[in-house]
Amino acid sequence: MIRLGVNIDHVATLRQARLGREPDPVAAAFEAVLGGADGITVHMREDRRHIQERDVRILRQTVACRLNFEMAVTREITAFACEILPDEATLVPEKREELTTEGGLDVLAHLAAVETCIGQLKERGIAVSLFIDPDPRQIEAAHRLGSHAVEFQTASYSEANSPAERTECLERLIDASRMAASHGIHVHMGHGLNYQNVFPVAAIPQVEELNIGHSIVSRAVLVGMRQAVRDMKEAIALGRANIRSAQH
Ligand code: PXP
Repeated sequence: MIRLGVNIDHVATLRQARLGREPDPVAAAFEAVLGGADGITVHMREDRRHIQERDVRILRQTVACRLNFEMAVTREITAFACEILPDEATLVPEKREELTTEGGLDVLAHLAAVETCIGQLKERGIAVSLFIDPDPRQIEAAHRLGSHAVEFQTASYSEANSPAERTECLERLIDASRMAASHGIHVHMGHGLNYQNVFPVAAIPQVEELNIGHSIVSRAVLVGMRQAVRDMKEAIALGRANIRSAQH
């Protein structure tokens, strides 16, 4: 079974548009869990453009399933994570000017900072995942640093401009998943996945968790959060069933 982590950042984006109280991401998390979410994912950015400290604190106290905290490798955010104690922390690159996370963390370029951050999180019992490109050098670095999991960025796959480019990106994700799993690293994926493109990704046997936000929140506006999560769970199960039938 693949776990679905529902990223509720964009519920908070809508609330911040009026700087008011609604919609409350905490309420959205309850609905997502009722729809079958296996985890709730939030990214508290340094500029607090959507998720606020208050959201993470209440989610930690109220969400019964896994809480995955996406975070930049900074002293301030690491200290906050060590206080909140999410089940999992996913280290992501962060630029203030970007609309959303654009590509994976360059672990090699920031080796010392990532190592310190991982050490502090691990000391508090938090499982660490590194959001990286499906690149063998990044996987080796994640292995050397003792990362519990990696989340391969699927943006290149989901934004591919042609079927050939998409197939190439998918093959890179497949090879990277094999390599990470051979090192004993858990494999997660996310970014840009939706109700049309999730099937082949869910069919990669090593994938244990998908983190999906924008497409689910967008659908939730039309059909409600519970139904949007149910539909995504169904799509993921269909994708997974395909590998099983292909293998037999
Ligand atoms: N995984 C990571 C590490 C992310 O930064 C994001 C975006 O916040 C997601 C998954 C979800 O991406 P999307 O909103 O495109 O589904």
